[in-house]
Amino acid sequence: MAIGHRSRIRYPSPIMEKSFAHERVWPLSRPPLRVRIAAIGDLHVRGSVDIQTIPGLLNVKDCADLLIVVGDLTENGRIIEAEAAAELLAGVLLPVLVVLGNHDLRTLRRTAFRRVLERSAIEVLDGGATTIRLTNGALVGIAGATGSGGGFWPVEGPDALHNGTFKGLAVRSARESAALERGLNELETDVRIAAMHYAPTATTLGREPVEKYWMLGNSDLGAVIDRTSPDIVVHGHAHLGTLKGYTPGGVPVRNVALPVVGGVHVETLELRSGHAIGLAEYGTPARCR
Ligand SMILES: [Fe+2]
Ligand SMILES: [Fe+2]
Repeated sequence: MAIGHRSRIRYPSPIMEKSFAHERVWPLSRPPLRVRIAAIGDLHVRGSVDIQTIPGLLNVKDCADLLIVVGDLTENGRIIEAEAAAELLAGVLLPVLVVLGNHDLRTLRRTAFRRVLERSAIEVLDGGATTIRLTNGALVGIAGATGSGGGFWPVEGPDALHNGTFKGLAVRSARESAALERGLNELETDVRIAAMHYAPTATTLGREPVEKYWMLGNSDLGAVIDRTSPDIVVHGHAHLGTLKGYTPGGVPVRNVALPVVGGVHVETLELRSGHAIGLAEYGTPARCR
């Protein structure tokens, strides 16, 4: 990491009350920085969408530095849906990074689907990582992958499951987790963000029925997060989930599915000399209107 060592000190500001103890110390030699991260997921676009119908999206450029879309941009992965989603997101006027969701992966034309988004300057993270230099000088890194289901296990990952139905899932889970870990390990940036469609923790699953947990995420993803320690994790997919959660190691996780948040979610990372790096809710959808 380009910034100071990881520690568990408290951020001496009221902001910390909404924040978490998973911070590093921002070196005295560095000027304070603010990184504003907007995220949304599960748009499930079927056709042309008026940007004004999604709370916060039209004006998110005024309260965030980048937008991450955590999958299920489309309902059925059709090219015409991808074109509508691309048109919608092009109207955001921010750097847009996306991971694909299970509904997007219904596409029979994955390369074409991806190209539609890329033609609108939307970057698709499929196990890779990217960096963005903000105008204030902060270097932001985002690693992303779809992830997979598999369930949440206290010790073993889903690869402990051996019956036929789950074997394919275990293979996909291991592949996606490894890709995410590679991406996160590549990032030597001031701020590191992990984006995925599936959940890395059950703490953001809210009112989802327990019997559906195996379809909603897996603990391998959470283990990757705890090994690589990004500053924040964003995911979607669990429409009945809750916004805030943590991995077992305490990394803050946000379920930003549109049915959960009701619009765009924005958080700010405060990086201040001599203090810890902390998360603060800054631009709720209301602020972006
Ligand atoms: Fe969804
Ligand atoms: Fe989904």
